[in-house]
Amino acid sequence: MTEKAGLCGPDGSAKRKKTLEEIRKINGNKESLPLAYCVVYGCQQNEADMENIRGMLAEAGYAFTDNPSNADCIVVNTCAVREGAETRVFGNVGAFKQIKEARPELVICICGCMMQQEKVVNKIKKSFYYVDIVFGTHNIEKFPELLLKKLKGQKRVFEIEQESERIAEDMPVLRDRENMAKVTIMYGCNNFCSYCIVPYTRGRERSRDEEKILHEIKLLAQQGYKEVTLLGQNVNSYGNDRGEKNAFAVLLSKINKIDGIERIRFMSSHPKDFSDETIAAIAECEHVCKHIHLAMQSGSSRILKLMNRKYDKESFLALMEKIKTSIPGVSLTTDIIVGFPGETDEDFEETVEVLEKVRFDSIFSFIYSPREGTPAANMEDNVSKEEKQKHFDRLLEVQNRITHEKALECLGHTFTVLTEGRSKENGEYLTGHTDGFKLVHFKGDDSLIGKMVKVKIVIARTWYLMGELEEGENNE
Ligand code: SAM
Ligand code: SF4
Ligand code: F3S
Repeated sequence: MTEKAGLCGPDGSAKRKKTLEEIRKINGNKESLPLAYCVVYGCQQNEADMENIRGMLAEAGYAFTDNPSNADCIVVNTCAVREGAETRVFGNVGAFKQIKEARPELVICICGCMMQQEKVVNKIKKSFYYVDIVFGTHNIEKFPELLLKKLKGQKRVFEIEQESERIAEDMPVLRDRENMAKVTIMYGCNNFCSYCIVPYTRGRERSRDEEKILHEIKLLAQQGYKEVTLLGQNVNSYGNDRGEKNAFAVLLSKINKIDGIERIRFMSSHPKDFSDETIAAIAECEHVCKHIHLAMQSGSSRILKLMNRKYDKESFLALMEKIKTSIPGVSLTTDIIVGFPGETDEDFEETVEVLEKVRFDSIFSFIYSPREGTPAANMEDNVSKEEKQKHFDRLLEVQNRITHEKALECLGHTFTVLTEGRSKENGEYLTGHTDGFKLVHFKGDDSLIGKMVKVKIVIARTWYLMGELEEGENNE
């Protein structure tokens, strides 16, 4: 964990700075340093938002704890993408009730995608009476104001904005990791895939100014960060909302020139507008990782149409071929949804066929979960639970074999790895990822953490590789 809480900048943040100072004063009157416990569900976008919330808490004088029982402030950042995510949030928040009863001065805050749904907010108002502050995805920068209202005595603070064109810049940030940083380049999504709640919880696409992104990454490089992951629900439509063409490809080549940034990753991209210019930029920019995550969702053109994905099986396969030819050795990963309403055995077999053809390095697979308010939730869901599970298991079986075969292809080869830290499972090993996002464990001392090292692969498992440091090669 790094303590690099940024300064409040000029962009509407003077008020925020004042509010944070006021909270700090209130906290300064307490006997000991107040503690915050933060928990985040969902995607990297939510993790990035949480880094800003933690930054604001740090500037307001809070330290952090891993134990909710001794926290003075709990913040839960929620995800609404599947029912399972929502159930976990409610279970977790339910468990905080006892803590609040024992210590009524505890402030419990819930924010994020679930809070953009009226029915969830109503449920919290009614059944989770011990939750003090609720805010959504569009007004994170107002968190200090809301916290101050509560600390000054307001009973409960609810503030949700349905949509926003604002992009809050210069928010404090307390990053989760050293060496690797998440940088949001755009917010929202315009795609309205028929199963997906995200456009409703995150609003329309808003791109950050290129200048602001480059400035943030230059500062990160100065602070010693080696890797940046550019975030957005569909990063390759970056700039489209301003009528710009190929802005993402241009952005990649500009970041590629920033001294000190060794690796540039991005997440996620949509196959429908993965342009030739973007492919060329990835191929040409030495620091852009040769790893592309492109969600396919289904291999059946019929299901893709029902999903409103705007490409079909043939055009997806053609795109994969183009990428493989233009970027030799590229790693490809994807997301697949199993059991979309009306998916037949034949549709599912087409997905398996595409997996065999493309040979993704790995996939994220999900069983379809109806989301209220999305068009797919009104489609007749005639696929039984058993059938969905059967398809899901078979999908994993096929992909695990391919992932293992892909891992075996790495044996005997040497890869550059950014050393991220000690392995959590076995502290004897250091751990990191290759350019193609393969997890590698290897022996070495702590001085290598944060460095780019060369590792020769000696053991290949399905989900990770084991390697040995190349003698004399481990300088950056
Ligand atoms: N914007 C990203 C893209 O299109 O690649 C994905 C964002 S979404 C947060 C991550 C993944 O969750 C999607 O690619 C999809 O596979 C899955 N997902 C979204 N809605 C879902 C639903 N209702 N049921 C099951 N999986 C879902
Ligand atoms: Fe959801 Fe589709 Fe947008 Fe991805 S592109 S966030 S799946 S609506
Ligand atoms: Fe979940 Fe919201 Fe991300 S719904 S996946 S946290 S954009």
